[in-house]
Amino acid sequence: MLKVINVAGARPNFMKVAPIVAAMNRRAGEFRQVLVHTGQHYDAAMSDAFFRDLEIPEPDIDLGVGSGSHAVQTAGVIQAFEPYVISEKPDWVLVVGDVNSTVACALVCAKLGVKVAHVEAGLRSRDRSMPEEINRVLTDQIADLLLTPSADANANLRTEGIPESKIRMVGNVMIDSLNANLARANQSTILKDLNLDGQDYATLTLHRPSNVDEQEALARILKALEQIARRIPIIFPAHPRTRKMIAEMGLAQRFEKVSGLTMIDPAGYLDFLKLMSSARLVLTDSGGIQEETTVLGIPCITLRENTERPITVEMGTNTIAGTDTEKIISAAERALAQPPDKSNLRIPPLWDGKSADRILDALSEPPAVAGG
Ligand code: UD1
Repeated sequence: MLKVINVAGARPNFMKVAPIVAAMNRRAGEFRQVLVHTGQHYDAAMSDAFFRDLEIPEPDIDLGVGSGSHAVQTAGVIQAFEPYVISEKPDWVLVVGDVNSTVACALVCAKLGVKVAHVEAGLRSRDRSMPEEINRVLTDQIADLLLTPSADANANLRTEGIPESKIRMVGNVMIDSLNANLARANQSTILKDLNLDGQDYATLTLHRPSNVDEQEALARILKALEQIARRIPIIFPAHPRTRKMIAEMGLAQRFEKVSGLTMIDPAGYLDFLKLMSSARLVLTDSGGIQEETTVLGIPCITLRENTERPITVEMGTNTIAGTDTEKIISAAERALAQPPDKSNLRIPPLWDGKSADRILDALSEPPAVAGG
């Protein structure tokens, strides 16, 4: 029997942790788990709704760390997590993704000599101005087991000198959640509620500091949205930090004035899955959404200069448009000019809904040098 602490911190962690928690409950003879929520995301829309939609059990421990500067938030998680690791004495701690909670909990384990496994290891944008890239590089350097979603991630880790024996390709665990919940998401009434049933529309998300904390980038994106919204209605579930920055920059009125652009509160998992899977087009700066649209066969325009998920461009439906107004508009026009067609859908290897079981298998048969 292996004792595992599963760590969940922020919104993009929850859809990765849910299938792992469910698989450990199914395989309760092999695994005993403790679920720790760091509290990095804490409000109803950013956290509670996801636990409910994804049927994740109540966390055993809530560290309640909350918002703050990167240093305050990361240090807060480190300080609050350490005593639990000492008292629980797990065989493994499992961290997912690239948020501040991920690197903070991995660091606690590395210092205590407790084995840590990183799910979604090896992704690289090579853009160190992004906080997530720092979190990825550091977490992978100190983790004992690197569970990757795709072959490019294995190659990145090899280049950084990580021994092959620590690396396992397990596929994309977020797709386990997607596959498991599509039918339920179809029951969502969000399109009816927004008067969009049966209509073409685009879904937009924006929250990266490089887009929403920089007035010029945000203004360039807004200019593109004004044009695109003339062709197709845009639904924009806005992250709290985005709403705050739009208000602080005095752009709230301009956003409100774009006819065809509807800003709504952040959507829960099932509502968002419905909004994404029925969209004609998705515009986003999220990482996970680039992967989900690839599996769903929905054209995705990424409002960033780079991606840590190149397979979504090579095999999938993703186009990297950056934040240049004209480039965004022409990418949207190209996507809208092509009739929707899912006949050529290409799904990356092991993005098959069975990654959680592969993760559990890898924990059961760890590499020879784990902990070394
Ligand atoms: C974090 C992750 C990012 C991920 C994103 C998804 C890091 C470095 N970044 O960024 O990788 O894509 O989550 O959402 O870990 N806030 C609330 N309620 C909440 C949480 C946050 O209102 O439940 C507000 C606070 O004002 C906070 C701001 O959002 O200051 C930013 O939250 P924070 O967790 O610091 O980073 P995110 O931008 O959400």
